[in-house]
Amino acid sequence: MKLRNLLALLSVGLHVLSAVAQDNQSEKTFIASPYLQIGRQPSAQSLELVWHTTDVDAVWLVEEKTGSQWKKADAPAFGRVAVAGIDAHRIYHSKLTGLTPGSTFTYRVLKNGTVVFTADAKAPKSDKQAYRFVAIGDIGAQSPDQKLLAVQIYKANPDVVVVPGDIVYNTGLISEYRTKFWNIYNSDKETIESAPIMRSIPFVASPGNHDIGNRDLDRYPQGLAYFMFWNQPLNGPAGGEGSAWVPALKGSDVNKKAFTDAAGEAYPRMGNFSFNYGNAHWLYLDSNPYVDWSDKTLTDWIKNDLASAKNATWRFVVFHHPGFNSSREHFEEQQMRPLSPIFESGNVDVVINGHVHNYQRSFPLTFVPDAVTLAADGKPARGHVVNGKWNLDKNFDGKSVTKPKGIVYLVTGAGGAGLYNEEQNDDKASWQPFTTVFRSKVHSLTVADVDGKTIKFRQISATGDEIDAFTITK
Ligand SMILES: [Fe+2]
Repeated sequence: MKLRNLLALLSVGLHVLSAVAQDNQSEKTFIASPYLQIGRQPSAQSLELVWHTTDVDAVWLVEEKTGSQWKKADAPAFGRVAVAGIDAHRIYHSKLTGLTPGSTFTYRVLKNGTVVFTADAKAPKSDKQAYRFVAIGDIGAQSPDQKLLAVQIYKANPDVVVVPGDIVYNTGLISEYRTKFWNIYNSDKETIESAPIMRSIPFVASPGNHDIGNRDLDRYPQGLAYFMFWNQPLNGPAGGEGSAWVPALKGSDVNKKAFTDAAGEAYPRMGNFSFNYGNAHWLYLDSNPYVDWSDKTLTDWIKNDLASAKNATWRFVVFHHPGFNSSREHFEEQQMRPLSPIFESGNVDVVINGHVHNYQRSFPLTFVPDAVTLAADGKPARGHVVNGKWNLDKNFDGKSVTKPKGIVYLVTGAGGAGLYNEEQNDDKASWQPFTTVFRSKVHSLTVADVDGKTIKFRQISATGDEIDAFTITK
């Protein structure tokens, strides 16, 4: 055989091998590999494991290792997602229970009796244990900096990740999670552009405008995936469409039913919720402009929720649209400002926002809003300027003076989507009086170490540089 013919044969052989490999790849066990969530009723002894599969029956089992013994987690259950435009698939979940708070443990997933997935994970911290959280918003953009920051999250080795909205761009679709989210934050191995994070620790997300702002299911039948994929508490105010905080779904009855079947109990309740993690109480809100925050049911719910957290050392509030923002971008979207007095009387320490794609830290402040402007419909104008009087604690420097008089408002929206207002980074005259740090030239995330009555915050860039640091104490 001539050399040329031999090479041709080899080439055909290689193509066949490569085709076989691709077939195996397409028969992957998971559409989304197992990821941890805090679950509907979070505790330091439990986590919820979630994974996505094709719409094919199989016997699934989850086991967690305690000592040298494997014990069964709760029997897996699934919800079926059958919306237009994407193959029907299943979202399985199983509750891991009996965890030792703060411990590292191993779990595994079995399909038809065969182990198909194993991971080490961290149990949630108790109220007596120190912990680290990362906060990072505006993330799933499939940008180089989103990927670098995924690796920075992994390096920071937090116990939990806080996402103040805009989880995936551009419309919160199922398909967008597959190309811009799971593959970056829950890859099987650490690479230069992804890391195996979500299998080991939970992310907790509040919904941004790109996640749930669009309610037109004829245009986006795969939309509102937030309500399908996140397994978070459902203890917010109960109210359906037409309430002050739930706009109506649009679209055909078929598409609406497909969505509500897929979302199950999470829709619409999971827009607002709260839980305790470590020694802190966490309040997550839907800040999208369709919500009428002057509604008494809503404000009473926040007041009662914060009052009920009397044993917590710290109180954090997480939502997408910042009330206190110095960027020219999104400047007028101040609809959350009127809540500041409620946060203050509820002893909130830090408010964590995104939406604006840069990093901003306020002086500790208290705020008295002017009377709210009414729109033509007689309801408060939303998405518009809310003037008022702020008192700024300029003695606080986060280094030698660390007890703030007022709430610190953080914008940490430089998590991956295109940066806003880089030109304001060095133009201090363009910052609002309440802003003390403004970093808009690099993508970044927030690392917070909470230890008893001390929190050390650091803002870390995509390349690992520290671009802000401050400490808060009680
Ligand atoms: Fe946003």
